[in-house]
Amino acid sequence: MNVIHRPEWIIPEREATPEGVFFNRRRFMKGLGAVGLGLAAGGPALMGNAFAQDGPDPTLGLYPAKRNEAFTLKRAITPESVTSVYNNFYEFGSHKRISRAAQALKIRPWAITIDGMVDNPQTIDFDDLIKKMSLQERLYRHRCVEAWAMAVPWTGFPLSELVKYAGPKNGAKYVRFETFEDPDVASGQKQFWYPWPYVEGVSMAEAMNDLAFVATGIYGKPLLKQYGAPIRLVLPWKYGFKSIKSIVKITFTDQRPVGFWEKIGASEYGFWANVNPEVPHPRWSQATERLLGTNERVPTQLYNGYGAQVAQLYTNMDGQNLFR
Ligand code: MTE
Repeated sequence: MNVIHRPEWIIPEREATPEGVFFNRRRFMKGLGAVGLGLAAGGPALMGNAFAQDGPDPTLGLYPAKRNEAFTLKRAITPESVTSVYNNFYEFGSHKRISRAAQALKIRPWAITIDGMVDNPQTIDFDDLIKKMSLQERLYRHRCVEAWAMAVPWTGFPLSELVKYAGPKNGAKYVRFETFEDPDVASGQKQFWYPWPYVEGVSMAEAMNDLAFVATGIYGKPLLKQYGAPIRLVLPWKYGFKSIKSIVKITFTDQRPVGFWEKIGASEYGFWANVNPEVPHPRWSQATERLLGTNERVPTQLYNGYGAQVAQLYTNMDGQNLFR
């Protein structure tokens, strides 16, 4: 049994099943030899504010942004000291302690290309793009497919604002997002069995939903690198792998994008990936979730508790696997 070769979030801590169900990832594992999967990187945990940024940050004055009271929570906010040292960011290692390794990412300058079926294709610097958007703070739950959860204050802007800025053409049905690719700074990208760069996508209707958010900050400050600085997606009703980090390209298309994890194992990770406690992952239950920073497990909610806002997006979609 090759347990050591399994990425931590693919085989979660608690409910891993024997390798018989370990599908075609073996294809990607070929050539791995005796090398463990990224377990050496990361280093000791650092406290929340101890991370250096790249020189002066011209966006600092935009924080903290005013909280949008339509998006608050009954659940306690997970402390920054917990979430800043427990991250999934496979570009920097296939384990949770990537916060130190992620500091190698240079986030200034940061160019973002908007292309495909849009009226205004362009490449724009992040510091210019953020000035065109209206920043606000929202408290959101986050539910990882591995069955851990957190609640955090994101700062950013609705994805719909960015869509309007791009000006999609009539036939555009999906928005595809791509993360940077630079194996010299992100050593995880030297692991050739993964289909880099990380890609994710949403339907146009999802992109226009009020909950879909583009985060540039967290805890009232610009994003630390381990959270996916300088700009990431936040889709709180979906499993966390849909919330792609450190975006460099946004493409409007009529083709449904195939995400990073879907490419690796479509039977386990699909396009829709909406949270549903009643649809188990093929290898573990999704009925409950562990709240980061506590020993508490709580019941998972359909659409992660956001059904009132998003359930209508998925009517008349029989035959599609909406929950994986
Ligand atoms: N984006 C990129 N580019 N690479 C990743 O490995 N991991 C995803 C998502 N976005 C990931 C990513 C997963 S599985 C989760 S749960 C969230 O980021 C974790 O976000 P956090 O580390 O800020 O909590």
